This record gives sequence, structure tokens and C-alpha cells, in this order.
Amino acid sequence: MRPTRLIALVLTTVLLIVGIAVLLRSRANVDAPRDDPKVLAAAAVDYVKFCAVCHGVDGRTVAGSIAPNLASDDLLALAGDDFLRAAIVFGRPGREGIGAKGVKMQAYGNGATPLDDARIDGIVRHLRTWQKAEPVALDDAYRAAGDVAAGEAVYARACASCHGAGGWTDGAPRLAGAVFQTTASDDFIRQTIRRGRAGTPMRPIALSAADEDAVIAYIRTFSPIPPK
Ligand code: HEC
Ligand code: HEC
Repeated sequence: MRPTRLIALVLTTVLLIVGIAVLLRSRANVDAPRDDPKVLAAAAVDYVKFCAVCHGVDGRTVAGSIAPNLASDDLLALAGDDFLRAAIVFGRPGREGIGAKGVKMQAYGNGATPLDDARIDGIVRHLRTWQKAEPVALDDAYRAAGDVAAGEAVYARACASCHGAGGWTDGAPRLAGAVFQTTASDDFIRQTIRRGRAGTPMRPIALSAADEDAVIAYIRTFSPIPPK
């Protein structure tokens, strides 16, 4: 190898290492410590400004609002940070609903509001301050493989009165919503059926394993496009 090429090679390698180190350092500065009091104080202000009108100042839903309780261990112990972040960034119900008919919660991310990624992450930290229960490790490998027709019957009997035909309703979360469907795993749905959400109309519902498997498989057939 000629000396000039060797020098070029060494220089490129050094530059690459320095570049990566600089990138990592700048990330370290962006990612504030998880429970930095300054971040939490700013997030509490953001929460009150952007969320409290529906979800309540203390995460307990305002009377008459259809928004879910956020200060709920039955939600927070099952929901990972990505689940919570996606709900805030994309809103509810989802792709077909954003800015269109049927929006229940607007999208806050991607420039839709002044809330950037760091502030949204702060709000997620703020929601975590309400969590008392240990996180539940969900079984990500579980895939409902039940009989869809049987699941339709279970849904009609046990869920439709609140969640609506085809998962579209106003009074309870839209199980058809694209953001919910994309971020809730089959086990998240299964554990929610079993635990319910304390203090809300969503009671724990005891189903046989086959019925759970069937109703979740049926919920997965819902269309994210709002009915006309
Ligand atoms: C009596 C009314 C009622 C019935 C019956 C009911 N739910 Fe719910 N469900 C709710 C309400 C209300 C919520 C939101 C509660 C909250 O967190 O504030 C909810 C929440 C949920 C959630 C969480 C949604 C989200 O966005 O995170 C899932 C999943 C769910 N229900 C599934 C079911 C399934 C499956 C059935 C039938 C086996 C069922 N529910 C029966 C009222 C009901
Ligand atoms: C206009 C009322 C409204 C506002 C404002 C609002 N939300 Fe929501 N939010 C809702 C409703 C309604 C749902 C359930 C909708 C559905 O899935 O059908 C929801 C769902 C959620 C969920 C999912 C909960 C679950 O059970 O899965 C999270 C997390 C959430 N909101 C956080 C926030 C945060 C944080 C803010 C502020 C940045 C906010 N919301 C602002 C009405 C609102």
C-alpha cells in the first residue's frame, strides 16, 4: 500500500470514530435523565395545557368525557412507552381518522403541535409518575389464532354493547382504530380483557381461553376506515 493511501485510510477511520463519538455525545445531551425534575416540571405544564381538558388534571377522566383514565395501573402496567408515545404522536383513532371524520384525539406529534419528540417523551415520563404497579411483561410471541366466526359471537355478546359493531363507537375506545391496532399486541388485549380497567365501565371479563383467542382474532379483522 502506498504511504498516501495508508494515511488516507487512517484519517478516514479516525474521522469516523470521532464522528460517532460526537453523535453519541449529542444524543446523551438530548436524552435527559429519566426522572430529571426540570423535565418532569415542564412536562406537567404541557400535560395540563394539552391533555387535561379530556383526561383530567390528575389523569382521572373528567366527568362526561369519553377519554380513558391515564392514571390507571391497568393501562400503565401493560402499556410500554412506545404504546403511550404513539397514542400522543398519532392521536386516536388513527391513519384514516387523522384530520378526518371520526377523530377523538388529535395527533400531537410530527409538527402538528409545538410538542416535539423530547416534550412528548417528557409527557410519557409524567404519565409514569401515576404508575404504582410493576410493569407486566407481555407475551409478545402470543398470536390469537382462534376461530373468527366464534369470536364474532363472543364480541356481540360481551363487547359490542360498549365498543360498537366493528369496533367503531364514540363511548369507549375504538378497537378498530389504526393506532390502537398497530400498537396493542394480542397479549395487551388479552390482559386488558382479564384485568379490565378499575374504576371504569371496562370490568374484568372472564372468558375461556378459546373464547379469548377467538374474540381477539375477530378484533384483528376490524377495518380502520370509518363507516360512512
Ligand atoms: C360495559 C362497557 C364495556 C364492555 C362490555 C367492554 N368494554 Fe372494553 N372498554 C370499555 C371502556 C369504557 C374502556 C376504556 C376504559 C378506560 O381506560 O377509561 C375500555 C377499554 C378497553 C380496551 C383498551 C383500549 C385501549 O385503547 O387501550 C380494550 C382492549 C378493551 N376494552 C377490550 C374489550 C373487549 C375485548 C371486550 C369484550 C370481551 C370489552 N372490552 C368489553 C368499556 C367496555
Ligand atoms: C379532545 C380530548 C382529548 C385530548 C385533548 C387528549 N386526548 Fe388522549 N384520548 C382521548 C380519547 C377519546 C381517547 C380514546 C380514543 C379511542 O381510542 O377511541 C384517548 C386515548 C389516549 C391514550 C390511549 C389510552 C389507552 O387506554 O390506550 C393515551 C395514552 C392518551 N390519550 C394520552 C393523551 C395525552 C398525553 C394527551 C395530551 C398530549 C391527550 N391524550 C389529549 C381524548 C383526548
